[in-house]
Amino acid sequence: MYKTHTCGELRSSHAGQTVTLAGWVHRQRDHGGVTFIDLRDRYGIVQVVGDPAKAELASLQNARSEWVMQITGVVRKRPDGADNPNMVTGEIEVEVLKVETLNPSKPLPFLVNKDEDTEEAVRLKYRYLDLRHDRMQKNLILRHNVIKYIRDYLSDAGFLEIETPMLFKTTPEGARDFLVPSRLQPGNFYALPQSPQQLKQLLMVAGLDKYFQIARCFRDEDLRGDRQLEFTQLDLEMSFVHRDDVLAVVESLFTGMVKDILPGKRLLASPWPRLTYTESVERYGSDKPDLRFGMELYNLSDILAQSDFMVFQSVLKAGGVIKCIIVPGCAEYTRREVDELTGFAREQGAKGLATLALTAEGVKGTAQKFIKSEEVEAIKAKTGANTGDLVLFIADQKAVANKTLSALRILFRDRLKLADPNVLAFAFVVDFPMFEWKEEDKKWDAAHHPFTMPKMEDLPKFETDPSEILSDAYDMVLNGYETASGSIRIHRSDIQQKVFHLLGLKDEEIQSKFGHLIEAFEYGAPPHGGMAPGIDRLIMIFADEPNIREVIAFPKNQAGRDLMADAPSPASDKQLAELQMKLDLKKDEEKK
Ligand code: AMO
Ligand code: AMP
Repeated sequence: MYKTHTCGELRSSHAGQTVTLAGWVHRQRDHGGVTFIDLRDRYGIVQVVGDPAKAELASLQNARSEWVMQITGVVRKRPDGADNPNMVTGEIEVEVLKVETLNPSKPLPFLVNKDEDTEEAVRLKYRYLDLRHDRMQKNLILRHNVIKYIRDYLSDAGFLEIETPMLFKTTPEGARDFLVPSRLQPGNFYALPQSPQQLKQLLMVAGLDKYFQIARCFRDEDLRGDRQLEFTQLDLEMSFVHRDDVLAVVESLFTGMVKDILPGKRLLASPWPRLTYTESVERYGSDKPDLRFGMELYNLSDILAQSDFMVFQSVLKAGGVIKCIIVPGCAEYTRREVDELTGFAREQGAKGLATLALTAEGVKGTAQKFIKSEEVEAIKAKTGANTGDLVLFIADQKAVANKTLSALRILFRDRLKLADPNVLAFAFVVDFPMFEWKEEDKKWDAAHHPFTMPKMEDLPKFETDPSEILSDAYDMVLNGYETASGSIRIHRSDIQQKVFHLLGLKDEEIQSKFGHLIEAFEYGAPPHGGMAPGIDRLIMIFADEPNIREVIAFPKNQAGRDLMADAPSPASDKQLAELQMKLDLKKDEEKK
C-alpha cells in the first residue's frame, strides 16, 4: 500500500496512530537538527518532521520542491504555540520514522506553492504543473461537482444521457466547421459537431422524449475570454413541450445547484426575471444584461427633440436616437477623465459622447450649453438623476447607441464596483428575432439557428418583412454573459423548407446538407424544444475566474494552440498520402 491516509485528512483525533503518506514536497525547511516538510496531495497539506542526522531519514534533508515522497510516521499533536490555524491539519504533525524518495523533480519553471504572475504561455506549456495549484484544483473539483449535479438531477427527472457522434456532418451554429478527412472515402470530410443540435432533434423523432448530454462542441471561430475552439455544453431536448416547460427545467436545475453546491453564492431573484429581447436591448443596450445593478439606459429622443444641439438634431433627423446612462457620483470627473470616456465610446463605434455633470454648483459638461434648464429638469425626472451624478449621452443609430452605452455600463460596473461578486443574476431573455440581415453578404442569417420555430402568428411575414419575425428562441443570461441558448424547434418539414429558402439555401444544398433531417420530419416528428447551457462559461462565473481557460484542464491559447503538446502540428507525408491529400500552403505574405 502506498498510503494509509491522505495528507489533508489528518486531525488531532489521529494522534498516536502510525500512518503512511505519499505526496509532493510543497515546502521544505531545515531548522538545525530538524527538517520540516509540508507534504501535499490533492486532499491537502500536512507537516511532517524528522531528524535528518538519523541515517535512515537523510533524504528528508535532500528533498526539494515537488519531489515525490513516501513517509511513514506517527501523528502527534503539535507542541503548544506551534499550531497553525491557517491549515486544516494545523493542530498536528507527523513524526517521520521512515522516508523514501519515490521520484525527484527537476527545478520547476514556476513555483507551485505560491500564487505568482506566471506568464500565460509558460503556464500552458507546463499545464500539468499549473494544475497542481490549489486554485486550479479547486476549479476542476467545482467542475466535477457541477457536472455530477447535472447528471443526478436530470437522471432523477427522467432524462436519458445519450452520446452522439463526433464524426458527423455540418451542424451550423454560426461558426466555421472543423473538418476531418476520411481515409476510407478519399476527398470526403466529416465535420466535428458545432453542437449536437440535429442529432438531439432526431432523438426526439426517435421517441426518446427527454435527452441530455454533457456534449463536446467544436467551433472554428476567433477565441475570446469566454470562448474556446472546443467546449462543453449541457445539451438537452424534450418532446411535447412549450417554451415554459423547457425554461422550468433549466431554472429549477440551476436554482437547486446554487443552493446545494455553491454555498458562497446567492441568487438575485427567484423566480428568475424574464425580459423580452426588445426590452433587454432598450433597457440595458444588450441581450445579455448584467442585472446585478441598475444604471439602465433611457431614451431621451422625445425630451431632446427640440434641443439646440446640432449633433442631436441631425441624428434624430436620420432616424437615430438619443440615449443616456446616469453614472452615480461622478459629476466631478475632470476633463481628462471625460476625454478618456469619449475615446472609449469612439472605440465602440460612437461618434462622440456628450455629458451633463449635475454638480452642487450647477449643471456643467459638454452638452450643458445646448440643453435648456427645463430639458435638464425633464431628464432628471425621467431618469432619477441627482446632484453628484454624471449623465452620458450618445446620439446615434439605435444599435450603436445601445452597444456603446452597454459597454460604458459594464465599464462603470467594474470601476465603481456596482455588482456584488457573490450574487448570481440568472435571467431569461425571450422572443428573439428569427433573422438578422447580414449587410456584408446581403443575405438573411438565422439569429439563433435555422431549426428554430418562428412564432406561428408571424409566418405571413416571410413574404413581407422577415426582420419583423419573432421566434420561440430564448437565452439564459448570467452576470452579463450569455450562458445558454435554446428554442422550440420546427417539427414540420414545410416550415423548415421555408426557413432554409429565406436563408438563401438552394434545394440541392438543403438536400445534401439536411436531407436526413427534412425526411425525418416527415415520419411523425413530435413537437419539441430544448436548450444548451455552456458549462465552461457557467463554471468560470461560479469560480469568479476572468477567463474560461482557468476552468478547462487543457485549453488552447488565444491563437488556438495547445502549447503543451504543440498542436496543431503538420501531418506526415505518409498520412497525407493515405488521405490522398496534397498541401497547397500559401506563403505567409499571401495569407495576410
Ligand atoms: P449556442 O450556439 O447559443 O446554441 O450555444 C449555447 C451555449 O454554449 C456556450 N458556447 C460556448 N462556450 C465556450 N466557447 C464557445 N466557443 C462557445 N460557443 C457557445 C454558450 C452558449 O450560450 N444548439 C444550440 C442550443 C439549442 O438550441 O438547444 C446551441 O449550440 O454558453
Ligand atoms: P462636436 O460638435 O463634434 O465638436 O462635438 C461636441 C461634443 O458632442 C463633443 O463632446 C462630442 O464628443 C459630442 N458628440 C459628438 N457626436 C456625438 C454623438 N453622436 N452623440 C453624443 N455626443 C456626441
